[in-house]
Amino acid sequence: MTINERIEKMLSDAASRFEEAASVNDLESLKVRYLGKKGEITEILRSMKDISPEERKTVGQVTNAAKAEIEKAFSERVAKLKSAAREAAFAAQTVDVTEPGKAVAPGTEHLISITIDEITRIFASMGFSVAEGPEVETVFNNFDALNAGPNHPARDMTDTFYITDDILLRTQTSPVQVRTLQAQKPPIRVIAPGRCFRCDTPDATHSPMFHQVEGLVVDEGITMADLKGVLDSFAKQMFGSSIRTNFRPHHFPFTEPSAEMDVSCFKCGGKGCRVCKGSGWIEILGCGMVHPNVLKVGGLDTEKYTGFAFGMGVERIAMLKYEVDDIRLLYENDVRFIKQFR
Ligand code: DAH
Repeated sequence: MTINERIEKMLSDAASRFEEAASVNDLESLKVRYLGKKGEITEILRSMKDISPEERKTVGQVTNAAKAEIEKAFSERVAKLKSAAREAAFAAQTVDVTEPGKAVAPGTEHLISITIDEITRIFASMGFSVAEGPEVETVFNNFDALNAGPNHPARDMTDTFYITDDILLRTQTSPVQVRTLQAQKPPIRVIAPGRCFRCDTPDATHSPMFHQVEGLVVDEGITMADLKGVLDSFAKQMFGSSIRTNFRPHHFPFTEPSAEMDVSCFKCGGKGCRVCKGSGWIEILGCGMVHPNVLKVGGLDTEKYTGFAFGMGVERIAMLKYEVDDIRLLYENDVRFIKQFR
């Protein structure tokens, strides 16, 4: 074989091998195989040790041309592989805009929030504004200022979460009455929704954390008739216009006189059913005329000012109205439960 023939053969061999190479790495080693120090061209030249000086010139030209051709084939093939890789990467990233989206499960307002909002809306329509107080309260605001002296049964350690001797988790929203009386001058017309805490073992009707809505009205000439009118109107708006209310005497340290308000059963209309436990009446809230000792905490002249207050359990009202029979359902946050009240 002449040099030309050998080079010819090598070039066609290289062309097909380059074509077959599947990676830039493969191409690199092919290039070394032909052009490297121990490559085929060197090999060919070495085997031609004894060629004449005339021939040497043409051999030089032929091998240089062959080298250039291999370089060219190499870089063309590298470019092709790289663009193929780029295209494959693009194809893999393609977004199918016609594909349906993932369904997002939207949250739902919780029954407690729904109920607080409903109560707030009703009292707001009667001119009440919303007051707030801290969940971590002073013993003074939670008990003493509310006329519950040191020996009051509610102060027993078993009912109250104490943080220190003077600080506790409020057991009721009533301390907001104290804060409001200290911060505002009459006329006062506020409700205070919020969390309360009592050291109770959870069961179907008890939870160590629960919610109340407190109410306080103070002005000149406020009477028990105002209390009854406001709370009767609330009951009708909350449970239905045919609801009747009944006020039973009761005792709370911060009101005198005190009462509990029952509503006629909104489920059976008063005939007696499961919801009202056969009595036809459902107890809804505690209320009364603000005790003069409480008004004094706000520095008010008790000859001039009188007021009424009330407090209701949000969970109790929500459970009655929506017929939920276990309070724990309200805190488990099972969306299947929560979604029902949307
Ligand atoms: N704080 C009372 C409780 O937790 C509820 C209550 C009753 C609040 C009568 C009042 C009220 O403001 O006048 O049982």
